[in-house]
Amino acid sequence: MGHLAYGVDGKVFVVTGASRGIGLEIAKQLLDQNARVVICGRKPEGLAAAAEALKGGDNLLAVAAHIAKEDDVNALFDQTLETFGTVDALINNVGMNIVTGTVDADLGLWQKIVDSNLNGTFLCARKAGQIMREKQQGKIVSITSIAARRAAPFMGVYGIAKAGIEMMTQVLAQELAPFNVQVNAVAPCMVRTKFSEPFWSNPDIHEQIVKTIPLGRIAEPADVAHPTLFLCSSAADFITGQTLVVDGGATAV
Ligand SMILES: NC(=O)c1ccc[n+]([C@@H]2O[C@H](COP(=O)([O-])OP(=O)(O)OC[C@H]3O[C@@H](n4cnc5c(N)ncnc54)[C@H](OP(=O)(O)O)[C@@H]3O)[C@@H](O)[C@H]2O)c1
Repeated sequence: MGHLAYGVDGKVFVVTGASRGIGLEIAKQLLDQNARVVICGRKPEGLAAAAEALKGGDNLLAVAAHIAKEDDVNALFDQTLETFGTVDALINNVGMNIVTGTVDADLGLWQKIVDSNLNGTFLCARKAGQIMREKQQGKIVSITSIAARRAAPFMGVYGIAKAGIEMMTQVLAQELAPFNVQVNAVAPCMVRTKFSEPFWSNPDIHEQIVKTIPLGRIAEPADVAHPTLFLCSSAADFITGQTLVVDGGATAV
């Protein structure tokens, strides 16, 4: 894809769930372009490994936080403000799934999935939205999934939570538009990360999935990072309340 610049030099980004996968790729691209970046994840050892790989120096802050825990989210943003003084963009990248049918899902499992996907995204977006409303500028981008738009076996609860994030995107876009804050989402198909490894690492399943994607391959983390950074750039100042589907055409046909 080569080098693309998004005008993020010096800007402060909070990227949730950035110790691996799509979030790590986003953090890497941001640091390459001299942005100041805060990454979070639940497990300190994963975060430490990511920080070491990113080599972000003074431009990088890693904070262990579970985004569904209000105290953790408050601490994440407090440390961001203490270290970098502001928040210019929030990338709500955390997502997780526990493989389950929906009809028989027990409530605890439902709550776990909804907590990490929908509730956590709300807590982070609320905090960032308040900061950005005050400074009359900002961008919020959430990573959802095509499972929010098309029922997928064993991803039902996850898809319901992601659909909630898409509606949250529209609601926050409306509430924050008068304050010059743009709120959007990116909805990928399968991406080659640990999250979906059980599927893409199985040649038969991989082949079945690729058959549903007109562009003939699953996504790489960079395929998702670039549209996300575009939506965080000034080139997207007149785009809000939208979900950009990044799926190689899968849901278009
Ligand atoms: N990969 C795909 O096929 C695919 C397709 C469509 C959409 N997506 C979406 O893309 C986003 C990124 O996924 P990915 O594939 O990069 O996933 P991944 O490789 O599993 O990485 C997830 C990241 O989120 C962190 N995390 C998980 N739960 C968290 C929580 N409650 N609080 C804080 N951090 C948490 C993980 O670190 P810890 O485990 O240390 O917390 C890790 O850094 C997700 O929103 C996912 O739903 C992925």
